[in-house]
Amino acid sequence: MKIRKCVFPVAGLGTRFLPVTKELAKEMLPLVNRPIISYGVEEALASGCDEIIMITGRAKRSIENYFDRSFELEELLKSRGKTELYDKMLAISNMAEILFIRQREPLGLGHAVLCSEPVCKNEFFGVALPDDVFLNPEAPVLSQLITVHEKIGGSVIALEEVEADDVSRYGIVKPQFAIENGIYKIEDMVEKPKKEDSPSNLAIMGRYVLSPSIFPLLRKQGAGTGGEIQLTDAIKTLCSQEPVWGVVYKGRRFDCGTQKGWLSANVQLALEEPELRDVVLNVVSKEFNKEENINNVNQ
Ligand code: G1P
Repeated sequence: MKIRKCVFPVAGLGTRFLPVTKELAKEMLPLVNRPIISYGVEEALASGCDEIIMITGRAKRSIENYFDRSFELEELLKSRGKTELYDKMLAISNMAEILFIRQREPLGLGHAVLCSEPVCKNEFFGVALPDDVFLNPEAPVLSQLITVHEKIGGSVIALEEVEADDVSRYGIVKPQFAIENGIYKIEDMVEKPKKEDSPSNLAIMGRYVLSPSIFPLLRKQGAGTGGEIQLTDAIKTLCSQEPVWGVVYKGRRFDCGTQKGWLSANVQLALEEPELRDVVLNVVSKEFNKEENINNVNQ
């Protein structure tokens, strides 16, 4: 069956971005010219999904409003003859069929995915963590996982090789064997291991195709790392029941889940925009010159 649904867990409190996220949803922070969440939704749609399910929380109304119509704004733009902008605003609200489900308690990623059960119950579905922004216009990363699922079935997760010092930031898999270059059968996984306990340096990145068999496992899953119900722990059990594949994705990833990552993503992507490139280069080169002058005086 074709994968049509993609779940976006967006209820997280965004504590890494406080104080900004005291009021603003972190998924609504801008990445150059549109909110972070928009990139993930565009990727899911480009991967063939046509039902987006957002697992949201009470502080995330701005995400719902962003994808909804805004009549006042549309009327204003129309009356001022700003047709291009008007069309753009309308396109955002028409871009996807989105369903919002509330995660009432912040119990973790696994619990967030479980909240999608009433909608996804019997079918394989995609999961996209919007903090991980992937760019690959030719083959969106979620579509790379869907292609593997369509060929060999089972659940599929996106993997990236990370430095040994970074393994404790991610879920890490233990591959059993490779069926082809970059596609592994997974036998085990662990959420955020210590460097010395890590089964490999293949880290889970924020894209998954999951079997509906994950739901009963999530229902039984107790709290794990960080006191939260971890998706990784339930997929670990799934590995012993059904095939779970890992795919080293092709494309670029921007980690927008931390202030440093988000800032660096903005700078890198702005450098690729013809109208913004000079702005960034001017600021940076002025700073660079200042530092050079100071160094020269000190010598
Ligand atoms: C989550 C997952 C983790 C995965 C990571 C990818 O962690 O629990 O397994 O490696 O996303 O970004 P989080 O970043 O929410 O702590």
